[in-house]
Parts: sequence; C-alpha cells; structure tokens
Amino acid sequence: MTLLAIESSCDETSVAIIRDGSVLSNRVASQIKMHAEYGGVVPELASREHLKNFLPIANAAFADAGITASSLDAVAATRGPGLPSALLIGYHAGQALAFVLEKPFLGIHHHEAHLYSPWIAGDPPRADFDSFRPSVSLIVSGGHTMLVHVEAELKHRLLGSTVDDAAGECFDKTAKLMGLPYPGGPELDRLAERGDANAYSFPTPLIHDKSDDFSFSGLKTAVRYFLRDHPRLLDRDQSLFDVCASIRAAIVKVLVSKTIRAALRLRVPCVTASGGVTCNLELRRELLRACESAGLTLRLASNALCTDNAAMIGILAERKLLARGILTSYDDDIVPGWSLG
Ligand code: KG4
Ligand code: ZN
Repeated sequence: MTLLAIESSCDETSVAIIRDGSVLSNRVASQIKMHAEYGGVVPELASREHLKNFLPIANAAFADAGITASSLDAVAATRGPGLPSALLIGYHAGQALAFVLEKPFLGIHHHEAHLYSPWIAGDPPRADFDSFRPSVSLIVSGGHTMLVHVEAELKHRLLGSTVDDAAGECFDKTAKLMGLPYPGGPELDRLAERGDANAYSFPTPLIHDKSDDFSFSGLKTAVRYFLRDHPRLLDRDQSLFDVCASIRAAIVKVLVSKTIRAALRLRVPCVTASGGVTCNLELRRELLRACESAGLTLRLASNALCTDNAAMIGILAERKLLARGILTSYDDDIVPGWSLG
C-alpha cells in the first residue's frame, strides 16, 4: 500500500509518503524562524505559510520517494487538534487529492499519531510493529502534555493531561522570562547542560497528586517571581546556566515520575515518549535511567520524529486502513482513540 500523509496542525508543513510500513519520504518545512519575531505562533501567518509551502513540499516528497500521485492507494491528513486555520490547509489539500484520484481519505487525530512515532525506527525509517508492546506513552510538546495507556495497537486510553500549560510552553515561557530567543525550550536545554540542577529549587506541581494530570503554570509563575526577586542574578553566566538546569530538572522530574508511576500501576512492560519536548536531553537521560531501574523497556521517538511530522500521520493511517480493510471508499470517519479536544 502506498499512502500520502499531510500534517499542518501548527507551524510545520509536512508531507510524507509511506509504503508498506516504510517511510519513503518525510519532508518538513518549519516556520519557527518566521514566528520567532512575534515570540509565538501567529495562526493567520501559519496558515498563509502552509498555503505557500504545501505544493513545493508535496512535490519534494514525491521526488524523494521516486513516485507520482498515480501510485497512491490512499491519502491521509491531520484532522485535529490544532490551529483550525492551519489544519484546514493540509486537510483540504488531502481531501482534494483523494477526490481527484478517487482514493480513500483518512482524517487522523494528531495526538494519536504521536503515539506511533516511537515505533518508527531505522535508516531509512520504517514502522517496527514486531516490537510493539503495551505501553504508557508520554506525549509532550508546546501544545500538549498527556499520558496515554496504549493497551494494544489502535487501542488507547487517555490517562491524564495538563490542566493548564503544556510542558513545552513552560520551557518556552520561562526561557522568555530569562531573555532567551524563541522557541526557548531547546536553548534552555542547551544552557542547562552547563548548570547545576541543585542550585535552586523550583516547584514540581502535582507530582504527588494521585491523578495522571499535569500542571505547569505554577512553575512558570514561581520562576517569574524568583527572577523579579533576584534582578541581577542572570548577569553571571554561571547563574543563568544554574537557573536553566534547575527549571529543567523540575519539569523533567514531574514528567518522569508520573510516567513511570502510571506504567507500574498499569503493569505495562514499556514506556514511550514523543512530541517536541522529547528532544530534551535531560528528559531522555532521566526516562532511560528510571525505566532501567524499574525494569521497563523505553522507546523514544528519534529527534526528527519527536516534532510534528507527516510520517507519523501516514504510519497510523496505514495501520488503520490495514485494520479496517477499507481501500475503496472515501473515509473521513475514523474514530480516534479518544475524543478530539
Ligand atoms: O511537537 P512540537 O514541534 O510542536 C508542538 O508544540 O506541537 O514541540 C515544540 C515544543 C516547543 O515548546 C519547544 O520549545 C519544545 O517542544 N522543545 C524543547 C526541546 N526541543 C523542543 N523543550 C525542551 N528541550 C528541548 N530540547
Ligand atoms: Zn504535536
């Protein structure tokens, strides 16, 4: 089966071509630089940029894969959640292509697709469903922070999510308070590598709460007051590194502790993680350390597939098509593992 997948839920325009579990191409045009000027994603600009980028990216994806549209058996696109005006560009482009080719079209749940990126591995990348195990999956990015129980392939249950800010948002906003460039998460992570995580103590919200929910807005506020009360602190490079390391440690501690606790409670053999924040060096190290000591297998999405991409959309769409055996009709009615939020 050969399938074209599209992702345009936020600030990445991505087109991938998947054939029988292999990622033949996965092109991503990131808009980060454009939005940096405004300190965050501007929805109107994002959708205009998707419009501009879609055809060049789609053509490049076909060229990389060495196929033309006539070889496609299906088309899939992210249906949500995301910025409505951004989603519409990729979604309608996918619908139009499927309509013209008279092939099935699948609308895919963005978060559900993130669950599958840790199972795409190798070079060239392909889906590794032979190793698939029930897992607790952490999806952590600028827009979402959630824990999902993946009971089996295509069988998911949302355990908890953030009640306010996402973890990536907390990284970005605290980095902004320190004057770091947007998006601050990667920069804060880089500087934290040179700092002492025990230098300062920041709150670890909901860490002992019995729910699987997260909350990061209190941590952001604590950093705001801390910086207000220590106005000259960041003049010294080493203090900046130490504050970065301490903030990062607080966020990572909550993410790791709640993920491992859920995995042990549900007696799953495996933990997975994906979403932009999974690029965080400390999160990767700490998840590995915690999984090793708890006897859990860890599957982390590769850095390229942590952030938004169409390959994960295509891999999930292919699984859904194979499971449902629908190859002839227009199908926009695939029910996600949980409701669209
Ligand atoms: O998945 P993603 O590309 O987009 C969505 O938000 O859906 O994630 C982007 C987020 C941003 O908040 C960014 O700062 C964060 O992931 N991020 C990081 C790192 N790399 C990306 N946060 C902490 N450390 C990193 N190394
Ligand atoms: Zn995402």
